[in-house]
Amino acid sequence: MQIEKRVDDVKAQVKAWRNEGLSVGLVPTMGYLHEGHKSLIDRAVQENDRVVVSIFVNPIQFGPTEDLASYPRDLKADALLCENAGAALVFAPEDGEMYAPDFSTFVDMSGVSDELCGKSRPIHFRGVCTVVNKLFNIVTPDRAYFGEKDAQQLAVIRRMVRDLNMNVTIVGCPIVRESDGLAKSSRNTYLSPEERKAALVLSQAIFAGKALVAAGETDGDRILDSMKAMISAEPLARIDYVEMVKWDTIEVHHKVDCPVLVAMAVFIGKTRLIDNFIWE
Ligand code: PAJ
Repeated sequence: MQIEKRVDDVKAQVKAWRNEGLSVGLVPTMGYLHEGHKSLIDRAVQENDRVVVSIFVNPIQFGPTEDLASYPRDLKADALLCENAGAALVFAPEDGEMYAPDFSTFVDMSGVSDELCGKSRPIHFRGVCTVVNKLFNIVTPDRAYFGEKDAQQLAVIRRMVRDLNMNVTIVGCPIVRESDGLAKSSRNTYLSPEERKAALVLSQAIFAGKALVAAGETDGDRILDSMKAMISAEPLARIDYVEMVKWDTIEVHHKVDCPVLVAMAVFIGKTRLIDNFIWE
C-alpha cells in the first residue's frame, strides 16, 4: 500500500490505474480510524479495483471554538488498518498541500445544510463540501463511501453531487456501534470512564425512538419528547438538538409519513456526540 502526501502523486497513480481500466473507490476520513471507517473501506474494497483512503483533519470545517487542535491523530495505526483492509493508497496531505495561503474558493449550500448540525456549526458543511469536492477532483473516484453516522453529511454530499453534476456514485453505509450500543466515533476517545457510561444515553434514546416508530407511533413530537426525556435524565448530558427531518431534504418534519431522519447532537461533558436513525 502506498502512502502519498502530494496531490500530484495521487493524480499520477490514479491516472496509471485508469490506463489499466481499473475502477477506483474513495473513502474520505479525518483519521483515527475505527471499525466504522473500516466498514466503509471493506465495502469499497468489495466494489472497486483500487481503494483510496484520504486522511485529512480538514481545518475549514471546524469552527473557532471547536476541537481542531485536539482532534486525535495516529497516521501509523491508520495506515496499518487501511493496509489490512485492502486499501491501495492512503492520501494524507499536510494542510498547505490542500489550502494555499490565498485559497478562496468554497462550495456553499443552502437548505439541506441549514438544520441540525448546520445550525450549531454554521461553517461546517461549507468546509465539508469544499474538501470533499477537492478530494473528488484529485481522486476522480467511481464511487465514494460515507457513513450514515453523519446522516446530514451524507444528504449534503448527495445533494452537492446532484446539483453540480459530479461523476461519482455516493454509497451510504450503516452505523457501526460498540457492543453496548454507542456509535463508534473518533471523538469517543475524549470521554472519561464516567462520561463513557453517560454517553450510552444517546444510543438508548435512539433505540427507544426507533422502537416507538416501529410500534406505529407517527407523531414526531411525541417521539422526540420521549427521547429528550431520556437524555435529560442523564446529569452529564446536555442536548444540542434532537430533531426529526425529512430524510432527503433535511427539512424539519413532525410526522412519520415519509422517509425521516431522527437525529441528535448531545454534549457529554465537553464532548459533542451525534447519533441518529433513518426510517424509510
Ligand atoms: P470522519 O469523522 O473521520 O468520518 C469519515 C467517514 O466515516 C464518514 O463518512 C463517517 O460518516 C464515517 N463514520 C464515522 N463513524 C462511523 C460509524 N460509527 N459507522 C459508520 N460510519 C462511520 O466525516 C468526516 O470524517 C469528514 O467530515 C470528511 C467527510 C472526511 C470531510 O472532511
